[in-house]
Amino acid sequence: MTFKHLIDINSLTLKQIDDIFKLARDFQLNKIKSSVVGKNAAIYFDENSTRTRFSFEMGCHNLGLRIFNFNKETSSIQKNESFFDTIKTLEALGINVLIMRSGNEQFFNEILNNESFKIKVVNAGCAIKSHPTQALTDYYTLKRHYSSLNGKTIAIVGDIMHSRVAKSDIELFKKLNMNINLIAPPYFQDINIKGVNWYNNLEEGLKNANAVIALRIQNERINGTVPIIHYVKNYRLDTNNFPKNALLLHPGPQNRDIEVSNELLNTKNANTILEQVANGVYVRMAILEKMLKDDNETV
Ligand code: CP
Repeated sequence: MTFKHLIDINSLTLKQIDDIFKLARDFQLNKIKSSVVGKNAAIYFDENSTRTRFSFEMGCHNLGLRIFNFNKETSSIQKNESFFDTIKTLEALGINVLIMRSGNEQFFNEILNNESFKIKVVNAGCAIKSHPTQALTDYYTLKRHYSSLNGKTIAIVGDIMHSRVAKSDIELFKKLNMNINLIAPPYFQDINIKGVNWYNNLEEGLKNANAVIALRIQNERINGTVPIIHYVKNYRLDTNNFPKNALLLHPGPQNRDIEVSNELLNTKNANTILEQVANGVYVRMAILEKMLKDDNETV
């Protein structure tokens, strides 16, 4: 079964998550063709991006979608047009799906709360709250290495408080019954996150980890208030502290030698990071194909 919007992970069933994985794999192996050729996708990003934006654009091209870039700075938002009227205008123009990254959570709430919207919306990053397509990409990447994730231990290290990737990853890994170790100093912890194992100590949190996700310190959200030297000394992943057989993931962009040492990034453990980038294209293709292929099936 397909879905109208993809705003968060919790609204997806395990079956839908598995369907996305299988469809992405079929696209990657060139086993199936797009059934959504000629539909219209608009892309709106009001926060910076390289890999999410490019992988969506590449995925749209691969599916035969027509792409329309929405530039906030040159749009009529600058003339005080509301979000509601902007969406209605895009609908009237025949846009089928809006791929949206925004620092404004309200935009996503408005989409969910307004059933009159016909346009479909994919969340490409919502403030510090959610980034479901990155979480699904991380799932896909892990599944390519481990056939079952049930009972596996994943450690997430770093600026959990400001990471939308961590929030969506945690939602997803809980659904998959994984053990989740969150490792962060107090200034990066988020006490609202429950049902996980919190660690202050890097070595303890990394014990038994099958995979480790390193997070970038979100400097743009913390106004220089964090002791970076303390962080690097106590939490930087390095060849000395990294579990020998674990996979290293990173949603990117990386700040080399801050959250992960250059030396560790040059080991085979880190090969997974560019696998994530490549896999992101197929996962986003699968999501768009599922959302757009048959509007009558949408729930
Ligand atoms: N992972 C991620 O969201 O990267 P970008 O900000 O480059 O899109």
